[in-house]
Amino acid sequence: MPELTLERLLSKLGYGSRKESRALVRMGLVTLGGKIAEDPFMILEPMPKTLQVNGEEIPVVTELYIMLHKPQGYECSHQPRHHDSVFGLLPERFLGMEIQCVGRLDVETSGLLLLSNQGKFIHQVESPKKGLLKKYRAELAREFTEAQKAQLLEGVALRNEKKKVQAKEIETLGKKIITISIQEGLYHQVRRMLAAAGNHVEQLSRLSIGNVALPETLAPGAWRYLTQEEIENLGG
Ligand code: URA
Repeated sequence: MPELTLERLLSKLGYGSRKESRALVRMGLVTLGGKIAEDPFMILEPMPKTLQVNGEEIPVVTELYIMLHKPQGYECSHQPRHHDSVFGLLPERFLGMEIQCVGRLDVETSGLLLLSNQGKFIHQVESPKKGLLKKYRAELAREFTEAQKAQLLEGVALRNEKKKVQAKEIETLGKKIITISIQEGLYHQVRRMLAAAGNHVEQLSRLSIGNVALPETLAPGAWRYLTQEEIENLGG
């Protein structure tokens, strides 16, 4: 990261404008290396790995790559209409860092949701051409048949889509439980595909994107930073 003043860094970390960031320093709320910082214009050289703001340890990371375990009942939108927003599950300062969802999950779908403020990364992961498989676990209303599986792997027509969409992989876990992997990220795609094959999705959750899986230890509503290896695996 190039040379930065403390107020600029705070602003990049989502603490508002430079003026607002300067005010945090003037109020004595910013601590660097165990000492209260006094000069908002101090140049950070070398760049610290962390700083404390209002008693909270903040990693000095300006590029956000996050995974969230999206619970059911949250909207992937900055302007939610009927439910809470997934952004409310993240630190408020991430909003000041222009964080966005990398693809969306519908309100009723839970599971792995990626978020970032890096346009190129977002595009890379969302692009069907890049071929990252999105794997879902679906609980169905009716028994899943071999005929339905064949139809989904062959491709089904969805309303308002020019081309048929195919499931890339399907695994049957139980009579009414499957995993299904798709390459695109069309509106309600898995639900619509199962409906087109004559079944109905009752519960849906995303398990993985490419080879990045939702860890069992990440509870619904919890988030963490992606590791460098995960970012690279996703093409970032
Ligand atoms: N397919 C759906 O139906 N919903 C999602 O949220 C994602 C894929």
